[in-house]
Amino acid sequence: MKNLDDISFDEHDELINPRPEETDFDRIMNRALSRRDLMKGVMVFGGVAALGNTLMPAITQAAPHRFAFDGIDASTTDDISLPPGYSAQVVVRWGDPLWSDAEEFDHATRGTGASQAKSFGDNNDGMEVYAHGDKTILIANNEYTNKGIIWGNREDGKAENDDDILKGMNAHGLTAAEIEQKDGQWSVVKDSPYNRRFTPDVEMDITGPAAGHDLMKTKRDPDGVVAQGTFNNCGNGSTPWGTYLACEENFNGYFAAEDQEMEVTAEMKRYGVSPKGRGYGWEKIDDRFDLAKESNECNRHGYVTEVDARDPTSRPKKRSALGRFKHENAEVVVNGDGHIVVYMGDDERGEFLYRYISDGVYAPGAETDSLLEEGKLYAARFNDDGSGEWLALTPEATGMANMAEICIHTRIAASAVGATTMDRPEWVSANPKAAEVYCCLTNNKNRGVKPNAGGDETPVGGPNPREANPYGQIVRWRPASADHTSDAFEWDLYALAGNPNLHNDLYGGSDNITKDNMFNSPDGLRFDSNGILWIQTDGNYSNEKNFEGQGNNQMLAGDPATGEIRRFLTGPKQAEVTGLTWSPDRRTMFVGIQHPGERGEGNWPDGGDSAPRSAILAITRDDGGLVG
Ligand code: FEO
Ligand code: CA
Ligand code: CA
Ligand code: CA
Repeated sequence: MKNLDDISFDEHDELINPRPEETDFDRIMNRALSRRDLMKGVMVFGGVAALGNTLMPAITQAAPHRFAFDGIDASTTDDISLPPGYSAQVVVRWGDPLWSDAEEFDHATRGTGASQAKSFGDNNDGMEVYAHGDKTILIANNEYTNKGIIWGNREDGKAENDDDILKGMNAHGLTAAEIEQKDGQWSVVKDSPYNRRFTPDVEMDITGPAAGHDLMKTKRDPDGVVAQGTFNNCGNGSTPWGTYLACEENFNGYFAAEDQEMEVTAEMKRYGVSPKGRGYGWEKIDDRFDLAKESNECNRHGYVTEVDARDPTSRPKKRSALGRFKHENAEVVVNGDGHIVVYMGDDERGEFLYRYISDGVYAPGAETDSLLEEGKLYAARFNDDGSGEWLALTPEATGMANMAEICIHTRIAASAVGATTMDRPEWVSANPKAAEVYCCLTNNKNRGVKPNAGGDETPVGGPNPREANPYGQIVRWRPASADHTSDAFEWDLYALAGNPNLHNDLYGGSDNITKDNMFNSPDGLRFDSNGILWIQTDGNYSNEKNFEGQGNNQMLAGDPATGEIRRFLTGPKQAEVTGLTWSPDRRTMFVGIQHPGERGEGNWPDGGDSAPRSAILAITRDDGGLVG
């Protein structure tokens, strides 16, 4: 097997559970038919466009635009680049202590289990900043660890003892910290009562339909109501009542067994749970991660966890009503009638897009606990003609026994109702100025080539118009009557990423993709308060072949009205740009830089021959102006 740090989560899961090639007659016919449809027209920005995108509106330099900056060039340097007039500083890095009795980060040892438990976690991703009285509180996901970095002090980047494994474990979870800006510099307020680490050991309540179900019961928790820890949180969400939503993504790789051939259930396979694991080693220090000793622990992860960062004594809650899958983020919308609507992607090749609607309605100051506990779950179907519908996941529609099973095996429910297999749904973001919602479909080398993990076909067509899609696209939909609880919607593609220098067909991208702004693998996505759409990438940074000219991962801004896209920031070598939020006064934009140097090249942010460290940036305008 290849070095596991060199391959993506999806690649790893498929090595363990290979997907059959789509070779049977029906599938080949489907592909041929959808290619013919593709010739007729792909729904792209602004309407129906023939192949060659002739009907897409061209973006002209003369058109009025809403950007305060000039787009910057692609970059391959080990640094941050921004337009003139903007500056970036590091707020907090992996391993920075949150308390004064914790050690400063040691580049030689890269810390210990104990030091890591008192420091900012690794690989920050989704995050939020909350105003709380005169305090400013940051909460961020610490998604995962790269073996070659966290154990970079060990030979071959492998854990040598239990404390190495514990260090890795404690680098996961969430970090809450008070931050402050003094003389222009943002930093963590050490020893603040708001500083908190949520490691994979922290207790939290399981709420919603899955709570207490037999599949949730373990030796340590025979009632199935108290989970331990949250980990591999990718994107995030935020509720109107001021809580944070952390979204558990590739949770499967933390479970393993000594017997590499141990049989697991079909349900476990659908989620990529396998005795082979991904090499974190947790099963060696805690039996609940050993599939041979505890078969249900894996059912207690893969959820959205709600945390109140403003109350340091609060206990997190796993919200099973929002389903179990590889959650990317959770975009919360208050519908016109007060229902809470949550849009969520399942980031794996050929998985689905979901919607949740609360049974109750939100009123500021009223009880909110039931809003993410009691509601209905749906999966999306996209039709080739630009229409779409939300399919309810109920026992009747899915043939499953009850809502508990649907909330635990949500992927199986969505397959049963015939939802559309997507090109890896990443972040979803709703336009604050219009009833429309955007989602990054990051890429999918299996589109039109292989089925998903459940055996569902992945035909080329609809919002997934390119076979073996290397570049990704951004889909958007408008709910019927501007009502997010309506089951009908209309969709089109806001952008098809591509390389117009190399391709004249759909792989060249939509008309709003140019040689000056091109990128691949859109992932992070967030509207600012003015309705500008910020796009962050987690793609191929080789700057070669299909990706020549695209450089390092980056952040761009898009205008939903004109379609124009401009590059705003480029990240350091081998990093992903992910996570975006603003200070309460909107004069600082916080941007996450994840896994710099993940394949051994790069020493950002500390330079020299230091360990590369994920970090959160604060970006400001030199004139002190608003940044979102
Ligand atoms: Fe953690 Fe889907 O990215
Ligand atoms: Ca992501
Ligand atoms: Ca990604
Ligand atoms: Ca990443």
